[in-house]
Amino acid sequence: MQKKAKSVYEDLRVDISRAKSAAVGAADGLTPGEFHEIEPRVARLHTTLTNERKDKKYGFYDLYKDKAAFDGVKDVACHFSEMGFKNLVVLGIGGSALGITALHTALGDPYRNLRGRKARDGRPRLFVMDNIDPVTFKTMMHVCKPEKTLYNVISKSGGTAETIAQLMIVVDMLEKKLGAGAVKDHLVVTTSPRGEKAPKSLLHPVADAYDLVSFDIPLNVGGRFSVFSPVGMFPAAMLGMDLDAMVAGCAAMDKQCSRVSLTDNPAYLRAAVQYLMDVRKGKVMSVMMPYADGLRDVADWYRQLWAESLGKKFDLEGKKEVFTGQTPIKALGVTDQHSQVQLYREGPNNKLFTILEVKRFSASLRIPDVLPQVKGLDYLRNATMNKLMAAELRGTLDALKMSHRPVIRVILPALNAYTVAQVLYMLEVETAMAGCLYHVDAFNQPGVEEGKIIARKLMGGDR
Ligand code: PA5
Repeated sequence: MQKKAKSVYEDLRVDISRAKSAAVGAADGLTPGEFHEIEPRVARLHTTLTNERKDKKYGFYDLYKDKAAFDGVKDVACHFSEMGFKNLVVLGIGGSALGITALHTALGDPYRNLRGRKARDGRPRLFVMDNIDPVTFKTMMHVCKPEKTLYNVISKSGGTAETIAQLMIVVDMLEKKLGAGAVKDHLVVTTSPRGEKAPKSLLHPVADAYDLVSFDIPLNVGGRFSVFSPVGMFPAAMLGMDLDAMVAGCAAMDKQCSRVSLTDNPAYLRAAVQYLMDVRKGKVMSVMMPYADGLRDVADWYRQLWAESLGKKFDLEGKKEVFTGQTPIKALGVTDQHSQVQLYREGPNNKLFTILEVKRFSASLRIPDVLPQVKGLDYLRNATMNKLMAAELRGTLDALKMSHRPVIRVILPALNAYTVAQVLYMLEVETAMAGCLYHVDAFNQPGVEEGKIIARKLMGGDR
């Protein structure tokens, strides 16, 4: 019999041992009884989610299977890459911006935008414009010369005032500097599809007017769940990221997340722990603290996903007031050991921690045997920065444990397109399950919509 070829990809691992009562005590950790109690409920909700997935109520689960969409973004990226753009500027906010930002930080060289074209493999620099600060936007337009810049405007609704305002400024600039005929070579649209059932996107008439390439965001995919749609994948392809590895990461995680048992399903396990910690142990805050600079914006992406999905006034039926949702907090190891950990260890014990770890960094850096005149540095001499990082991480883990602070560890063997896709996919499924546990609609955001409407009225708009 032929031996099964070893996969080139290594999976992430979730370890909740430090969130158990055996580690931090029964007041702050989960008991075997509590796990036992929630398991049948998770199993029932798994059936609900699986059926709703089959009925295509949620599209995020299956985005990675959409070969046509992936081929489409790759083809268009190939076309625009041949034009040799120096800059890719994303115009979008919230779910339209945070996914590609997370991927860029995780998978790019840390100083990618500052490096020359060769170091970027001939790919453009990335600028994600997710605010309407006039100083930043004006500066971006100065830094990114229009003839060398491709813009990707991303808005599922196609009506978000911030994004449309950015677009209006950019179209005007392109028309004035390059001429109306050139707009189609500098602007790509990503929005909801056309059709009777689809809400009217203001980006459709723009695409028509300038004959723009336009990508669809499936109607059943919400902004914060859209990273594996063209929202994240077109810019990712433009930057030369390994989309096939991301697809493989999603597929492997989907397989794990299709299992019903808590022990075999990292997303359900995390959802159950987070939920129980909140409602039973008073852990009303969920801190995500990666120990790798590359993952800092994954924590930012997760912050939106967790907050907008679970921060709800009404239950699923829309009748009972429930006011659910942990407050997600992003932190960074080791940096925030010198900013937040004092509070995390000695302040209110109302937080659950997720520590994201990377076992093998892509670089190693030795601390040289220098400064002989300074005593007491032997512990650093000839060690590596990697070893120091690992020791600091372990120190934080153990210190949190000593203070009875529960922790979930998410351990990535390495930081790459496969493992990052696994993290994002797992957190999406976890959020869907958490919505079920809280019995709220994790896929809407009425609180955001109201603010949008008020702002538009204040600007003299009609709605
Ligand atoms: O997750 C969401 O749905 C939101 O954060 C949206 O992404 C955000 O409000 C931007 O909306 P749009 O993509 O419609 O411009």
